[in-house]
Amino acid sequence: MSENINAGNPRRRDGKKVVLSGIRATGNLHLGNYFGALSKFVRMQDDYDCRYFVADLHALTTHPDPKMLHENVKDILAEYLAAGLDPEKNTIYVQSDVPEISEMYLLMNMHVGIGELMRTASFKDKARKALGISTGPSNGQEGSVENEADDEGIEKQIIGNQTNQRVNAGLLTYPTLMAVDILIHHADFVPVGKDQEQHLELTRRFARRFNSFYKTPYFGEPVNFNFGGHAVKVPGLDGSGKMGKSEGNCIYLIDDEKTLRKKVMRAVTDEGPKEPNSPVSEPINNLFTLMELVSTPDTLEHFRNAYADCSIRYGDLKKQLAEDILKITLPIRERILDIRNNDEYLSRVVRQGAERAREAASQTLREVREIMGIRKF
Ligand code: ADP
Ligand code: TRP
Repeated sequence: MSENINAGNPRRRDGKKVVLSGIRATGNLHLGNYFGALSKFVRMQDDYDCRYFVADLHALTTHPDPKMLHENVKDILAEYLAAGLDPEKNTIYVQSDVPEISEMYLLMNMHVGIGELMRTASFKDKARKALGISTGPSNGQEGSVENEADDEGIEKQIIGNQTNQRVNAGLLTYPTLMAVDILIHHADFVPVGKDQEQHLELTRRFARRFNSFYKTPYFGEPVNFNFGGHAVKVPGLDGSGKMGKSEGNCIYLIDDEKTLRKKVMRAVTDEGPKEPNSPVSEPINNLFTLMELVSTPDTLEHFRNAYADCSIRYGDLKKQLAEDILKITLPIRERILDIRNNDEYLSRVVRQGAERAREAASQTLREVREIMGIRKF
């Protein structure tokens, strides 16, 4: 096999480029997930051959709860559909419904070093959490693939750990599984938020390594997709940092009107500008960033001007912000409630999705086995 299959990728439907992305089944989706990932999924569905999945195997690396897993999968699925993903246009599936992924994960692991996995920033952060070590976060996965500074520290702590707490091997090999999710579809684009770019960099590295080891240009190199802009980071309501499940500062798509208004009205602010054209503090800047995502340019300009001439009233700003968020989330919430309990519909969607996903995945797996020398008698 010597031709570059990805160059004229026969797996593309109607000659469209392949888009692949997923979200872990670990809880309801918030505005960070929506603007960082899901709204991009929806915008891409008409122009690309899109495959979107619910990452339930990845959820097991940190949330192994047999009572909740299936419910969490249904939540994400309902939220995908409610946000506007059309199951006819897209391939929508559950990761564990495609067993080819698990087999290819095993094969790909033969070409991945435990050292490079241990040096991955996201692994170090999650390993620290698992061991209850709070010292120095390895700067949020946003830099290059490896963060050398505290390698030795965390590796020693993991290996020498004598407590009952464990860092499971699935967490270590998380990037292999994610690379396989992507490469098994020969994806061109992977729409994700900024915090996932490091995993994409590893995916490209594994693809190059496979190609060079087997001397065949088999895999292409997938990239993030941001409609020409840069990856967004949605801030939380607590004055600093990003909106995230573990940060406890989220507005969820499923929040009802009262809950949502209350959360926005409680957002952290400051004492207000004392003189014209004062610099904007982080909590207020975060509110403006949210407004940029949900409000009209006129509304944003109105409040920016009011800040500049000191006439701003934060109560009014928050009321407007809540109003504009609700315009986006309330229709989605209604559809979520509609779809979430329609088991028959959900199972129809994922059965069809799994069938399509397995078609592409089984072809890749067959070729990978062939390239690696696994032959049938
Ligand atoms: P969380 O951080 O809440 O656990 P996930 O890690 O499950 O969210 O993220 C799922 C998707 O949403 C990823 O593509 C991620 O980059 C994106 N995402 C999560 N939080 C944000 C945020 N605050 N801003 C932008 N994108 C985000
Ligand atoms: N790691 C991603 C996250 O935490 C989820 C994910 C798993 C994913 N496999 C993927 C995203 C493949 C894009 C492509 O959000």
